[in-house]
Amino acid sequence: MSEITADLISARNLQLDYATASGKQTILENLSFALRHSQQMALLGRSGSGKTTLLHAVAGLLPVASGELTVCGHALHQLGEADRTRFRRAHIGLIFQQFNLIPTLTVLENLQFVCALNQLSTADRELLGLLEQLDIANLHNRFPAQLSGGEQQRVAVARALAHKPQLVLADEPTGNLDMENARTVIDLLVSVCSNYGAGLMLVTHSSELPSGLNAIARLDQGSLLYSDSD
Ligand SMILES: Nc1ncnc2c1ncn2[C@@H]1O[C@H](COP(=O)(O)OP(=O)(O)OP(=O)(O)O)[C@@H](O)[C@H]1O
Ligand SMILES: [Mg+2]
Repeated sequence: MSEITADLISARNLQLDYATASGKQTILENLSFALRHSQQMALLGRSGSGKTTLLHAVAGLLPVASGELTVCGHALHQLGEADRTRFRRAHIGLIFQQFNLIPTLTVLENLQFVCALNQLSTADRELLGLLEQLDIANLHNRFPAQLSGGEQQRVAVARALAHKPQLVLADEPTGNLDMENARTVIDLLVSVCSNYGAGLMLVTHSSELPSGLNAIARLDQGSLLYSDSD
């Protein structure tokens, strides 16, 4: 047990399925891998290889079909949906291609909202410090619609970190950005996760691989080819 919980993510013989009209469809099977605390990993693989599916399982959004998946000390394969939702809220920061900010709240209020969900009374000063690290503190009173795409995604990065999760999961976070903004957002994401001591699993394209990641994994025909560089 201690060996399992020692890692931030530990997957053993993991199988992930979708229920479809034509029956059960297995997307990944016999997948085993680990991510250590504070480790930052890029997840590569061609379209349809199962990157989003795997990320959703690690986030507790998709139930485990069989095998074991332990994340931040929680055995997700043993938890029902309500417990997985509580787990996700407390331990995971999520960033998607769509920014998913709450349009009726300002930048700062979007961050306060995530903290309130976790019964955290995080000081505004601290949240402004986080926005400062992302170079958008001056925008804290704006509404999402008053920001550029790159700025909105930086707010989404701040929101993912605001409640100090142990693990940040980012699924092609720069898919809606031009190349220059993409590079800026990814570099900021990696450095702010380091500053917060959060692990990172980042689905991205190999052309965008930031420096400073300590693991690169590639999903290929249901296998995770995992290269650990430290
Ligand atoms: N809700 C679903 N129901 C059934 N099949 C699904 C569902 N979501 C995804 N799939 C299938 O699962 C496989 C993996 O999809 P997934 O979205 O994980 O791929 P991906 O690696 O993230 O691809 P991309 O790079 O295009 O985002 C694909 O064959 C896809 O058609
Ligand atoms: Mg995907």
